[in-house]
Amino acid sequence: MNKIRCAVLGLGRLGYHHAKNMATQVQGAQLVSVIDPMPGRAEQVARELGVEKWSTDPNHAFEDPNIDAVIIVTPTSTHAEMIAKAAEHKKQVFVEKPLTQTLEEAEYIIKIIKENGIICQVGFMRRFDPAYAEAKRRIDAGDIGKPIYFKGITRDAGSPPAEFIKHSGGIFLDCSIHDYDIARYLMGAEITSVSAHGRILKNPFMEEFNDVDQGLTYVQFDSGAAGDIEASRNALYGHDIRTEIIGTEGSLFIGTLRNQNVTLLSTQGSTYEIVPDFQTRFKDAYVLELVHFIECVQNKVQPAVTEVDAKINMEIALRATESFLSGKTLNVEKVQV
Ligand SMILES: NC(=O)c1ccc[n+]([C@@H]2O[C@H](COP(=O)([O-])OP(=O)(O)OC[C@H]3O[C@@H](n4cnc5c(N)ncnc54)[C@H](O)[C@@H]3O)[C@@H](O)[C@H]2O)c1
Repeated sequence: MNKIRCAVLGLGRLGYHHAKNMATQVQGAQLVSVIDPMPGRAEQVARELGVEKWSTDPNHAFEDPNIDAVIIVTPTSTHAEMIAKAAEHKKQVFVEKPLTQTLEEAEYIIKIIKENGIICQVGFMRRFDPAYAEAKRRIDAGDIGKPIYFKGITRDAGSPPAEFIKHSGGIFLDCSIHDYDIARYLMGAEITSVSAHGRILKNPFMEEFNDVDQGLTYVQFDSGAAGDIEASRNALYGHDIRTEIIGTEGSLFIGTLRNQNVTLLSTQGSTYEIVPDFQTRFKDAYVLELVHFIECVQNKVQPAVTEVDAKINMEIALRATESFLSGKTLNVEKVQV
């Protein structure tokens, strides 16, 4: 089968990681171009990964007839414009979460994707993580009975820089959205209401962006289940992602703080290495989601997580933001697509 010729747009914290995976781990893909407006960045990454073309201008990728697909890892505030241009040039799209920043943008994007007949996969990589995939298999096999409670913990090892926070859409859209997605997926149910709370505990600079570094969303599902989702930028000890699903017949605990299954015992006590960052925790998932995307492009089939799922996740996240700002519990409308 022909290799899918790809460009990676945005070579920051995650884009560099995706570019490296594309160049070295994804069999069906050929990374032919890397783009970043920061002077020297694209050339540096291209030379390191042996990529043929680099540029500071994303239009070079959109207008290049030799590129089949673009991997969009630019700041969230740019996603809508990037996807629209990619679709107009009939490039297949993999875009990082969240899809866009507003529902109006998401609706426009969904329309333009449909009109141009392209595939769009959105970066909800937890669905591809081996531990979450196993949990899904167990739930579907009936091992815990009916899922009745979801508990999500997502703690970052410190805040991203102010420039990232400014373009991120806030903690519920940027961070909790991973839990809203995996909750819907694992619980097999839709979220119908949110009550969100938040506070700045360690990062006063966030006030300027109307954001917080600690958030909590209480959610209810159309199945009658409920849940709570914590998001934090304050876990200086590491990247802490844990999920619990309580079922009528059993429970599932997903995730661990341990980076390796080794404990050091000494006169100081016992210690083990903690997962340091998202790139380490989701190392396999970031490869598997790109492999899936390339297979979908090659076989002309819809990916497991599309722009439609991404819009539902956005609706929940934006209602959570509204709930936090207004202090009210809010219903989540059934998303029209
Ligand atoms: N799935 C996940 O686990 C996960 C984790 C981190 C970030 N993300 C998402 O990935 C996206 C990028 O996040 P990040 O942490 O890598 O950000 P970042 O700020 O580290 O990097 C963004 C990069 O994009 C470049 N850029 C800015 N405008 C551009 C443009 N018009 N064209 C091309 N490049 C441009 C910047 O120069 C920078 O190098 C965000 O949407 C974020 O929500 C997802």
